[in-house]
Amino acid sequence: MSRRPCIAANWKMNKTADEADDFLDPFLPSQSADGPEVIICPTFLALGRVAERCAGTSVRVAAQNMHFDDSGAYTGEVSAPMLLDIGVDGVILGHSERRQYFGETDEDLARKVRRAVEAGLEPILCCGETDAQRESGDMEAVLSHQVLTDLAEVHTEDLDKVVIAYEPIWAIGTGRTASDGQAQEAIEFIRSLLRTRDDAKADLVRILYGGSVKPGNAEALLGMPDIDGALVGGAALDPDDFGAIVAAAGNG
Ligand code: PGA
Repeated sequence: MSRRPCIAANWKMNKTADEADDFLDPFLPSQSADGPEVIICPTFLALGRVAERCAGTSVRVAAQNMHFDDSGAYTGEVSAPMLLDIGVDGVILGHSERRQYFGETDEDLARKVRRAVEAGLEPILCCGETDAQRESGDMEAVLSHQVLTDLAEVHTEDLDKVVIAYEPIWAIGTGRTASDGQAQEAIEFIRSLLRTRDDAKADLVRILYGGSVKPGNAEALLGMPDIDGALVGGAALDPDDFGAIVAAAGNG
């Protein structure tokens, strides 16, 4: 089975549209279509600019959140048709910062993931345990609840349209990366959860690792059998560092 590696840049609440241009100026010419799938996830306000710049290149563009309804009285929200309208290809859903700071629930996420798939946006669904949950032996229960609930409304035949990102919360922005073995073990477990839905589809779903991925640790992580790419925060703000991580996926 072959799963195309995927490397995504989660810029979080960083970079104005002009700063996004400063990143793309050196980055875009360095990318070619035969490498891994590369996705840039800017803020909503820089999305339009980045989508315009990436149109016609191999680099794809994703939002960091969306609402599950297409329109309505939801002040401050953005919907799937609005993202598609400006040329966006995908959307990060369920990042731990959204779960933790903005009260996003698995029930919301089930609706968001379903809507993204139906609309033709590629969801990057995030899951992961806290330090305390890992220490108390609850990692598998937490991942099972998140993954199975969040995917519950996706038709089985569409499961491989979802990209999953395993991001242990203790490794995000801390410089404390999961070891290759820890990341592989958790991702293998997530794949086993997908097998309870459909064995053949489980082999097709790409599962990324996220949490302090850097140029220096990317190749080893990406070399693990079940790790199909990376969701990169801090190191994705710099075009050279992010380019080095993309290159590591090409070597993996
Ligand atoms: P980090 O963030 O690479 O800065 O740890 C990853 C993420 O939150 O997606």
